[in-house]
Amino acid sequence: MANDTTATGSQRVAVIGPGKVGSQLVRGFARAGHHVTVGARDAAKASELTALARVEVLDPGGAAAAADVVVLAVPVRALAEALEGLGDLSGKVLVDATNAVSDACVLAVEGYETVSDYIAERAPGAAVVKAFNTIGSEHLADGTIGGHAVFLPVAGDDRGRAAVVALAESLGFDVADLGGRDAVTIVENAARLWIHLAFRCGWGREFGFGVLRP
Ligand SMILES: NC(=O)c1ccc[n+]([C@@H]2O[C@H](COP(=O)([O-])OP(=O)(O)OC[C@H]3O[C@@H](n4cnc5c(N)ncnc54)[C@H](OP(=O)(O)O)[C@@H]3O)[C@@H](O)[C@H]2O)c1
Repeated sequence: MANDTTATGSQRVAVIGPGKVGSQLVRGFARAGHHVTVGARDAAKASELTALARVEVLDPGGAAAAADVVVLAVPVRALAEALEGLGDLSGKVLVDATNAVSDACVLAVEGYETVSDYIAERAPGAAVVKAFNTIGSEHLADGTIGGHAVFLPVAGDDRGRAAVVALAESLGFDVADLGGRDAVTIVENAARLWIHLAFRCGWGREFGFGVLRP
């Protein structure tokens, strides 16, 4: 399916997993005017999202089928099972918002350079793009903190990046397109830095990265 970006910039987005990350992204995307399907295993857990305009709660497979951009907001350990439940994702943009976290540090998935590589192997034909993983979930619905746009790096397959950059910009983030799948490591390392500062250095969760320009 081709990317359905209309003249107004509205996209058809599915968010798989209405947990902390997923529910914030749903709120942000809906407010920005995108049509959002929420992929929930248990619709009751997404009940507060059903009241939002342009939001529909479906089973994960139905939510993905109705969208051009599919955001994976599930734990890394659940990715294989979640992807199996989404059916054929070829032609879609698949956003990897995950971090392979354990004990307040970001790990790798054994045998893969990045989590996105692990996802791409299980989603043939999808364009996999890493994004929305470098800041705490509390700040995902609105990409600004204290009136400043939060820096959000994005990297992944060429066919999907423009749509994901546009989605992130519609939330207010200061987005950097880092390039292809070989740059995903940099995005995962940015998350490692955020998590290290938040939990090892005691900064807490109330911060995001920013870029200074003259
Ligand atoms: N929390 C953060 O601040 C943050 C920030 C950036 C990135 N991340 C990353 O984002 C991802 C999600 O984190 P989270 O904090 O939002 O976790 P969470 O609150 O635990 O939510 C996880 C969601 O995934 C769903 N899920 C689990 N297994 C599934 C499956 N097999 N099929 C479909 N859905 C499934 C869960 O549904 P059920 O309720 O039915 O189990 C739940 O809605 C993780 O990879 C995390 O590392 C987190």
